[in-house]
Amino acid sequence: MKSSAPPQTYRVKSFGCQMNVYDGERMAELLAQRGITPAPEGEEADLVVLNTCHIREKAAEKVYSDIGRLVKAGREAGKEPLIAVAGCVAQAEGEEIMARAPAVSMVVGPQAYHRLPEMLDRAVKGERSTDTDMPPIAKFDSLPARRKSAPSAFLTVQEGCDKFCTYCVVPYTRGAEISRPFRDLVAEADKLVAAGAREITLLGQNVNAWSGEDDKGRTVGLGGLIRRLAGIDGLARIRYTTSHPADMNEDLIAAHGEVDKLMPYLHLPVQSGNDRVLKAMNRSHTAESYLRLLDRFRAARPDIALSGDFIVGFPGETDAEFADTLKLVDAVGYAQAYSFKYSPRPGTPAATMDGQIAPQVMDERLQRLQAALNRDQHAFNQASVGKRCAVLVERTGKLPGQWLGKSPWLQSVWFEGDAALGDLVEVELVEAGPNSLAGRLLASVPA
Ligand code: 5AD
Ligand code: SF4
Repeated sequence: MKSSAPPQTYRVKSFGCQMNVYDGERMAELLAQRGITPAPEGEEADLVVLNTCHIREKAAEKVYSDIGRLVKAGREAGKEPLIAVAGCVAQAEGEEIMARAPAVSMVVGPQAYHRLPEMLDRAVKGERSTDTDMPPIAKFDSLPARRKSAPSAFLTVQEGCDKFCTYCVVPYTRGAEISRPFRDLVAEADKLVAAGAREITLLGQNVNAWSGEDDKGRTVGLGGLIRRLAGIDGLARIRYTTSHPADMNEDLIAAHGEVDKLMPYLHLPVQSGNDRVLKAMNRSHTAESYLRLLDRFRAARPDIALSGDFIVGFPGETDAEFADTLKLVDAVGYAQAYSFKYSPRPGTPAATMDGQIAPQVMDERLQRLQAALNRDQHAFNQASVGKRCAVLVERTGKLPGQWLGKSPWLQSVWFEGDAALGDLVEVELVEAGPNSLAGRLLASVPA
């Protein structure tokens, strides 16, 4: 590979989950520290980081086609960009990427991206490098302090997964469960708030498995961390995602009733409503135990909005077993949810199970499930009409004077009037669509 001039501009393209969005922001901060600036909209960047996702279908193929597109666009613009592949595809297929894609000069896994600047120095000299080590926690200690934040910020508190659901690659790509120390998280949250965050979403593959030692040396869980963060002046809202039913504890449930800043929203994946399928998935909960858990959240916070994840067409899933998933959906009444067709992931136990489901059957099941979930989401939004609530202003709308923000229940709300990014305003919800609501501005809520 030939040497190149040090890059002046970068672009980080993040795919997949919110944890990748967080990692993408942190990589951008590392590059900014080197004086590299974001490439202007519509211009080719000197350095492109593809921050990839491996959770479902054809992720690797997509990476190769993205690389091809970048090389072609670079040639047309008279410069070939330096390309780094980061994220879970890098972790899972690092060597193969190096062998198949000569245009890539850096492959860096999700636990190693703090080393991106050194890899970049080597890339400029024409040397290719791969780093997919998984040292626990080291990454966070070598990232720059937070200096910029949108009104709604992500904060990764926990990484990795020990659950080994039989369909999932995460335990292999993100490694074992680790919790970042309490002290570090409070410090990062303080910095984010000083930099303009009004809302922080705590992230982790199993965020509710987080545990640490508080200021007084006591062992606390996520509920304890949330209670501490709620003491930060200027922070108005706290959320967390994604949780596993097996790691729920009484203190976190109670926090929903006791901490005003903790928003009334819970994303709790269930995956299936059938106990045989759940067992084959190695989910460690039943449909019934999941429903009882939701009851406890509702008891603590009656208006809590519920969200979940579903997989249709897991190997061996029969029509009757799928019908149990629809039954569970009816029993819960989700405010919002994500649903996916099962996708065999290389190296996972389910990929080689008997009874792989035909694509047409999966399509049909997904359509039926999504119709039910959309119906419930629309109903939830309609039931919100007439309510008054706070909206955190996160973006400008399409038309002048229009603003977009989120309700406490994570619904998108747009309204017109005098406001600014990062404001918490009070609106009356006046009209519901399937994916958003219209609000009427009542007043600004003091910070
Ligand atoms: N196929 C389909 N969906 C999957 N998910 C995880 N692995 C797979 C897979 N192999 C879904 C689960 C999980 C969400 C993040 O992605 O629903 O909760
Ligand atoms: Fe994957 Fe299951 Fe871990 Fe979630 S809990 S990351 S689905 S293995």
